[in-house]
Parts: sequence; C-alpha cells; structure tokens
Amino acid sequence: MKYLLVLLLAGFTSGAQIQKEQLNLMPWPQSIVLNDGSFTLTKNFKVNITGNPNPRIFGGVTRFLRRLDGRTGIFFEQGFIAKLNEVPTAELQINCTKSGKIALYEDESYHLDISQNKITINATSDLGALHGLETLLQLLQNNGTSFYFPNSQISDFPRFTWRGLMIDAARHFQPVDVIKRNIDALAAMKMNVFHWHLVDDQGWRIEMKKHTKLIELASDGLYYTQEEIKSIVKYADERGILIVPEIDVPGHGSAILTAYPEIGSKVTTLTGGTSEKNIQGTAIATYGIERNAGIFSPTLDPSNPKTYQLLSEFFDEVCPLFPGSYFHIGGDENEGKDWDANPKIQEFKKKNKLANNHELQTYFTMQLVPMLKKHGKQLMGWEEILTKNMSKEAIIHSWRGPNEGVMAGQSLVDAVKKGYKTVLSNGYYIDLMYPVESHYLNDPMPKGADLSAEEKERILGGEATMWTELATPATIDSRVWPRTAAIAERLWSAETVIDVPNMRKRLDVVSFRLEELGLTHIRNKAVILRNIANNQSIKSLSEFSNVCEPLKGYKRNKGGTEYQMYSPLTLFADACTPDAKDALAFDDAVSQYLANKSPENKAKVAAYLNKWIAVNKGLNELSSNAPLVQPILPLAKKLNDISEQLLLVLDNKSTLKAEDLQKLVEECDSKDYADVELAVYKSLKKLI
Ligand code: ACM
Repeated sequence: MKYLLVLLLAGFTSGAQIQKEQLNLMPWPQSIVLNDGSFTLTKNFKVNITGNPNPRIFGGVTRFLRRLDGRTGIFFEQGFIAKLNEVPTAELQINCTKSGKIALYEDESYHLDISQNKITINATSDLGALHGLETLLQLLQNNGTSFYFPNSQISDFPRFTWRGLMIDAARHFQPVDVIKRNIDALAAMKMNVFHWHLVDDQGWRIEMKKHTKLIELASDGLYYTQEEIKSIVKYADERGILIVPEIDVPGHGSAILTAYPEIGSKVTTLTGGTSEKNIQGTAIATYGIERNAGIFSPTLDPSNPKTYQLLSEFFDEVCPLFPGSYFHIGGDENEGKDWDANPKIQEFKKKNKLANNHELQTYFTMQLVPMLKKHGKQLMGWEEILTKNMSKEAIIHSWRGPNEGVMAGQSLVDAVKKGYKTVLSNGYYIDLMYPVESHYLNDPMPKGADLSAEEKERILGGEATMWTELATPATIDSRVWPRTAAIAERLWSAETVIDVPNMRKRLDVVSFRLEELGLTHIRNKAVILRNIANNQSIKSLSEFSNVCEPLKGYKRNKGGTEYQMYSPLTLFADACTPDAKDALAFDDAVSQYLANKSPENKAKVAAYLNKWIAVNKGLNELSSNAPLVQPILPLAKKLNDISEQLLLVLDNKSTLKAEDLQKLVEECDSKDYADVELAVYKSLKKLI
C-alpha cells in the first residue's frame, strides 16, 4: 500500500508537463516530441537486448545501468548483461539490426520511444543504440522523491560522420587513465574519433620492440607499452570510438632523429673528434629531444633511402596495433630550413625535377602511401600535405587560420574543390583558451563558399584539437571539457541549432555529468588551488579564479621557452579556465543596471564589487603563509581598487575624475599578471 502511494505521488508530481527547453540534452537531437506522462524508475527496472548487435552492446548496457544506478541510488536488481534476450519482459527493450563497424559512414541513428510502462531503443547498429542510451541518461528527471523519464519520441542521427578529439601525448605525456576517461567522455557526447598524436619533437610515445632506440633515447621513459595501446584500442572499440594514430613526419622530427640521426637533414662539418661519418663522407649531426614549445628545424631527409626503410619498418610495427582504416602522418610546419642548407638534398631535388620544398615534401609523403596501404590504412595529414601531386585518397586536415597568415579554413574549401576528403580543426583549437561560443559557432560547412553537393559531401566533419604544451594530466580535462561538448553538438546536431545562451545552460549540466563519468575538469581546480594555498582555505582563490582566465592564443609561454614539457603547471593560470564562471553573470548584472538603475540592479553589481574587495583581503591573508599566492596579488589589488572606486561611483560619492577611473580600470588589462587576464575587464569598462 505504501509502495503504491509513493508510485502514485511520483506519477502525480512528475506529471507536470516538462518543456523541451528544460531538457539538458547535448548534442541536441534531430527530432524530439514530448508527450504527456512519464516513465518512473524502480528497483525492478530491467533491460533486454534483441537483434544482431555486436557484443559491445552488452558492456555498454551494463555500464548504462551502473551509471543510472549511481545517479539515482536505486541499485537495480539486474547486474551484468551478457547475452541476447535474457529478460524478454524487461521495460527497456533494445533492438539492433546489425553489428556496428568502427568506421566512417556507419549508421549511428537511433529511435528512442518512452511511454508510461515501456522504453524502446531501435537502431540499425549497436553504435546507434549506445548513442540512444546516452540520450536516455541525459533525459533523466527527478522530483523530490523519484526519478523518471518524460514520455517522448526521439529520432536522431549525426550530421557529420567524423566527430573527433585529438590529444597530443607527445608534449606533456598523457597516461593511459587520461586517455580512457576522455574516451568515455567522447562516447557520452556521441563523438566517434580519437586522434592520438603520438610522436613529435618532444617525444616518441609508442613502445617499439624492433626499434628500441626510439623509446630508449627519444621518450624519457614516457611511452605507452604495446599492451597499453591494445587495451586503449579495445576500450575505444567497446565505446564505438575509432582511433586514428599520428606519427608526425617529416618535420617535428627531433625525437625520431635523436634515435636515428643518420636520417636527419642537418649538415654538420667534420671537426674531428667524436662526429661519426656517414656513407657520404659527411658528418652525422646530433639531435636532442626538444624541451620547449615551437617550430623546430629537425627534419627527416627525403633524399635518403634509409629514411623510407626505417619509416616502413616503424609502420610495420605500429599499424597492426590500430585496427582502424586511417593513419595520420602529420606533415605540418616543415619550414625546410635544413633541406635548403643541405647540398645533397638540393641535388636530389634537381635530379627528381622537384621545383620547391612543397614538391619535395609531396615526394616524401607519396612514399608513405603504399607503406600504409600495405596495412589497409589510408593516409591523412595536416593541410600542408595538400600539394599538386598528392594522392586524392589522402585526407586533408584543415587547421591553419589568421594566426598562420592564411584565411581560416581556406584549405578545407581548396581540398574539397580538388577532390579530397577533409576534416576541420581550424576554430576548434581548444588549447588556445578561447570561449566556448567561438568554437560552437564554427561550422565545418563554410558559409558563403560555393560548393556542390559532391564537394560538401567530402567535408567529413571536425576535430577538437588539444595540444599539450601547457596541459598536464591534472589539467588536460579542464582544457578539453566542457567546451568539446559544444563542438560535439556542432558536429552532430542540425546546422540551425545555434542558440548560444541555450547551449550554455545545457553545457553547465553536461559538464557536471561529465564529472560524474570520471572527468577531472571540475574537481582538479580545487586540487591545484589547495597547493597554491598551502592547504589553507581556497575560498578567496576559488572566487578569484571565477573572474580570471588563462591568457588566450599563444600569449602564454612566451617564445615557447617559459615552460618546458616536464613543467608540472600547477600555477593559478592552470586552475583557471576559459568562460570564467562569474564573468557572464557580472556582465548581465552590469547590462541590467545600465538599462535600469533600480536599487535592486545596483545591489547586484555592488555585491560583486564587494566580493572582489573581500577576495583581495582574503588573498593577502593567505599569502603570508603561501608563496604561490604572491604572483596573483597585483591583479587582485587592481580589481580591489577599481571595485572600491566603482562602489563610490554607484553611490555618487566618487571624487575621481572620469579619466582617472578609466586609467584605474585599464590597469586591470595589463598582460603581465601571472599568465591570466581579468575576465570582467570589459564589463567593468562598460560600467564606467
Ligand atoms: C598544427 O597545429 N601544427 C597542426
């Protein structure tokens, strides 16, 4: 009787019709119809699977149950799901027609139907069903006593087939658990490609059994064992994620050449002593693992047959670790300095009628095509590989923009017009700390470009790009998430889903759900701040971090030499994130006050100003026993000073001249404050 009453109450209170705008779905589905009523969860909730899915669905559904368990505290009776049609009477019925392939163009669609007593997910492949389960988790609602799903019908499918995240494991090495939890997050956001940047100037990260020098001399001991790589590949497969490995050549070659200097392009004159002679009678230059950030000259020698022999052997060992059909060979940022300075390479160019370094690089890249094809892999490279004689099968990864002196995404249009498939990363460089809005509104389909249907078809999708010069295992999640969820929506949802405030509202909830999944982007802020505070209260630091953002673009790490690849990055800037939490809210308060100077609106602005005065006081107190707080004090003081003055202005008690006030606020915008910028600067200026 009591049980029945609870059910009735739950049914009654959850009956208040929920509106679409209240749902925190991301990526937003292609079609959603909300109906009256809801499905209330009980301990007896069970799942049944039918059809011909890949067995990955069993683990996927079991994980779904445990996540729902964790969130609701119901602890369902059903434990592990191991086979088809185990519980024919179950309330959640999943049917898949076929086994999903971890490949592009697979059918990832699903239909989710929720009614009073029954939920069904119908999908062509298990990959679609996994997406449907993520949507179902996001649909979960609650009242004061129970958890329920609103009755609804959702039909959903991705707009683009390539929805990726790249993680650079060559700069700051990112251990297995970092990769796995980010793969979990990709799956939760219905993304399907993990591009793993494994080799760069700063290290070779793949265990090599036949070419052990690469890990002995070029990894600092920081690499993935082949067993670890296999376990990550399996983990990704279980979650529907394709892995695209990258070995960046011929530029970015410091690590490879540290192990194999004999295939480098640098010319060294014989000075007697220790230099080794190579077969041409010139000395072999020495190389070292790069510690800084930037573009460096070590480049593989395209005129040396040994280069191709070794690369072919590397691919023979690395390719079988990755079952996917794509291999990224980098190809970016080769400035050709060592090529230009090497007479033997100049001679080679002349002999092979290669007019310039672009043609020479194309010659080089074309040698790799059959090496990869042998292993069933298609070559992909950064946009610099797009040259006259490049194989049409190569996938062009568009990344450059105004920072590199070209038009944003120009290579994407060039590539599709010339018949290449392409993936967009320009505009998705999440390491640069730009606000979520900038990435969200960056569409892979270029506006205003006159593209035929066939050309548009060649735009496969996009990739969030996480370079790790300034990200460690402790901070990387906060650089990737939650902004990558907004990129996921851009790549999955309809082109018309572009309401930024609505996205922000949903993203707040999604961010919290990603933490629930194991991502550390929220919690690690406190870890860093406790270190800065020397284990004193982090309240003032935390409040200050809500109005500070790390320097954007390439402004931090000046000249690439301020921080090294072994720098732990535990500074205040590392605790701060883009889209500082209080910045938008303060801006709203300022706008409201300027539109209507009511006492309530004034009080809202004043509350922030008073808070920042208290923050300054708190940080000063903290600093007497926390040296790491010292670098933050100047900016906190500036914010304090302008806040004090603005409080007087609000009360018409200021004696400062307008220009002095202006000066005071502008001092908050100097670029030399502990690698952060004040995110409320523009709003303060507006207020003045
Ligand atoms: C790149 O950012 N160098 C691809």
